Amino acid sequence: MPSEEMIALARSVMGRAYAPYSGFSVGAVLRGRNGRLYAGCNVENAAYPQGTCAEVAAVAVMVADGERRIVEAVVMGRGDVLIAPCGGCRQHLREFASDDTPIHLCGPEGVRRTVTMGELLPLAFGPDHLRPGHDDGG
Ligand code: THU
Repeated sequence: MPSEEMIALARSVMGRAYAPYSGFSVGAVLRGRNGRLYAGCNVENAAYPQGTCAEVAAVAVMVADGERRIVEAVVMGRGDVLIAPCGGCRQHLREFASDDTPIHLCGPEGVRRTVTMGELLPLAFGPDHLRPGHDDGG
């Protein structure tokens, strides 16, 4: 289970999402192998396709900090329907996660369901296809 700190951070970053067009705010928090937490929210744009997802924002913050391994992730949305990372975000997470990395799908109150990266994106195309046995340096 994710720490209370991780859930609280997801809740606060979700609250800062810029989603005036969809009204659907998302918060994502990644825990790196270094133990640090990296948070991101969705940022929409009047030119709709330019909007960015919360998971991608969190990945960018993590990589900018020099971390390259996700050991746990929280994705949080509001409403009754279980939040599920979009297909593109699954691919972004997979770049830095493993098949067994837990991804916690959350509402504001906490975890609703935990799945693995491999369950979210089975038979994934990933770094190993291009760089077998690579060392990510993380
Ligand atoms: N969204 C995310 O931030 N992450 C996802 O995995 C699903 C969708 C955002 C994008 C857009 O701003 C809003 O949710 C509605 O699609």
